[in-house]
Amino acid sequence: MSDFTPSPGEKNRAEAELLRDRDSGSTPIDRSAHLEGAADSLVVADDIIAGYVPGVNILNGCDLYAKRGELVGIIGPNGAGKSTLLKALFGLVNVRSGSVTLDGEDITNVKPNKLVSQGIGFVPQNNNVFPSLTIEENLQMGAFQAPSKFKERFEFVASLFPALADRRKQPAGSLSGGERQMVAMSRALMMDPSVILLDEPSAGLSPVLQDDVFIRTKQINTAGVTVIMVEQNASRCLQICDRGYVLDQGRNAYTGTGASLLKDPKVIELYLGTLAQA
Ligand SMILES: Nc1ncnc2c1ncn2[C@@H]1O[C@H](COP(=O)(O)OP(=O)(O)OP(=O)(O)O)[C@@H](O)[C@H]1O
Ligand SMILES: [Mg+2]
Repeated sequence: MSDFTPSPGEKNRAEAELLRDRDSGSTPIDRSAHLEGAADSLVVADDIIAGYVPGVNILNGCDLYAKRGELVGIIGPNGAGKSTLLKALFGLVNVRSGSVTLDGEDITNVKPNKLVSQGIGFVPQNNNVFPSLTIEENLQMGAFQAPSKFKERFEFVASLFPALADRRKQPAGSLSGGERQMVAMSRALMMDPSVILLDEPSAGLSPVLQDDVFIRTKQINTAGVTVIMVEQNASRCLQICDRGYVLDQGRNAYTGTGASLLKDPKVIELYLGTLAQA
């Protein structure tokens, strides 16, 4: 993208200025660094303003990009808008201004079922399996738009999560929290996505199972899937991600490589001190 080509989000700049909540006082976004990094990225969220209730913006100008093959982490306090940002990428919350692109194509406010067929997998924070269905049926639901892919994709997820294949006839509702998380991640992988969005995959798990989730997430990424993950276990997330974003009050507060954020005194003081204890 040349310096003089407006991004899709910038077309709405005037509208954005009208919508923007100017009083939150958080750190301004470095737009030029974002635009430079976003060029040729697989997923770009550009200056997103979004919310659920008319007149109330939850995201107040969020930027994010993920290059093909990257593992990108999003951390921040409760209520910062992390889940809302993932939902904005996946067409589940109304984007009022700004844009989302996938491989350069505008997908702002495109419906989730279309996005799945375009290569985005989403694992929500809660209620992410069908408890009355077996593991196998859950995975069939993940592949319902392309049932002919089922066998090949089942073999792929079984290579990542062998325990699921062994227990494929077991209802998902009878699984432990960690096992359910594996089913949910596998379901999202059934359509062979180019990018997978994970919302707090380690939440509610024991430390050992949390470790397992981070290891699996890294494996999924190593297998070629771009990963954008929201995490409450901020330090562990920053350890495995290539780059991270700290969200606060619906805005980007800090961004950088996982390693640089982990040792940034301001990030440690404001966001890792208590969050890192998880
Ligand atoms: N469906 C909804 N309708 C209205 N407001 C909502 C809805 N979902 C979330 N919100 C509000 O949006 C804000 C951001 O919520 P969000 O779930 O994105 O935060 P989060 O950073 O994911 O927090 P957590 O770490 O607790 O998961 C909160 O004030 C929340 O109350
Ligand atoms: Mg959340």
